[in-house]
Amino acid sequence: MSTATIIDGRKFSATLRGRIAEEVTRLKNDHDLTPGLAVVLVGEDPASQVYVRSKGKQTLEAGMNSYEHKMPAETTQEELLAKVEELNNDPAVHGILVQLPVPDHIDDHAIINAIDPNKDVDGFHVINSGRLATGARGASAPMIPCTPLGSIMLLKDHLGDLSSKTAVVVGRSNIVGKPMAQLLLQESCTVTIAHSRTKDLPDVVRQADIVVAAVGRPEMVKGDWVKPGATVIDVGINRIEVDGKNKLVGDVATAEAMEHAGAITPVPGGVGPMTIACLLANTLTAASRQNGLEEPNLL
Ligand code: GUN
Repeated sequence: MSTATIIDGRKFSATLRGRIAEEVTRLKNDHDLTPGLAVVLVGEDPASQVYVRSKGKQTLEAGMNSYEHKMPAETTQEELLAKVEELNNDPAVHGILVQLPVPDHIDDHAIINAIDPNKDVDGFHVINSGRLATGARGASAPMIPCTPLGSIMLLKDHLGDLSSKTAVVVGRSNIVGKPMAQLLLQESCTVTIAHSRTKDLPDVVRQADIVVAAVGRPEMVKGDWVKPGATVIDVGINRIEVDGKNKLVGDVATAEAMEHAGAITPVPGGVGPMTIACLLANTLTAASRQNGLEEPNLL
C-alpha cells in the first residue's frame, strides 16, 4: 500500500503571505502606497461572518488597509449597488469583495458586474472571466479567482510543468470549477469538467493525472476513483457531524484516496489557507496596476 504525499497549503500560504507583506512594505516605502481591501457582508450568515473576519485579520497582518462594510439582511439591491459605486470611486480602496451568497432578493450577477473590473479581486466579473478565457495578458490581464489561483500554485509547486497531463475538474461553479478548468487549459492540460450529470463519473475521474474536486459534497470522490499516483486537489469544505461532534471534511474521502494518490491536499490545511493568501495577492496586484507600477512577482 502506498501513501500519498500531503501537499501542505498552510506552509505554502504562510510563505506567500510573507512575500506579500514584504512587497506591501516596499510599496509603502518607495511609493507611499498602502493597498486597501474592502469587504462587504450583507446579512448575518455565520459561515460568511467567519470568513469575513478572517479576511480582515489577514489583510491587516499583511500591512494592508482593511475596510469592512456590514449591511443588514434587508439591504436592497439599489443600496448595495450604491455601496459598490462608492467603493469603486474611493482611491484608497484597490480591491472590492462582496461576500457571497447575498440574500435571495439581490441579483448576485448584477452586484458582481457593478464592481470596477480592476478592483474585482474575486475575479468574478464577466470582464475578468472573459480575459481569463481568452488568455489576455499585460495591461488587460485578468484578476484570477482566488481558490483556483491557489490550487494551480500548489499543483505547479508540486508537479512543476503540467503540460500534457489529463485533468478532471469535478464541479462547474463560476467560483471554482470553470476558472480552474481555464487555468489548467492554459497550462496545456487536457481538461474535462465533470458534474452531477456526468455519466460514469468514477471512470471519468480514473483517467485523471490531476483531480480537482469542487462539488461541495462531503467525501464524494472515493479512493478507488483515483488513478494510482494521481495528484488530488480537494477544494471542499464541508461541516459534518461524526459521533455528535462537528468535523470538517473535503469533497474527497481522504483516508481512502491516500492509498491511491501520489499527492493530496488535506482538509483542513490544503486549499483553504491558499484562498485568502491569493485574495491578498490579488489586492496587491490590483493596487500596483491602478498606480501604474510593475506587478510584484510573488513566487
Ligand atoms: N463565498 C464563498 N467563497 C467566496 C469567495 O471566494 N468570494 C466571495 N466573494 N464570496 C465567497
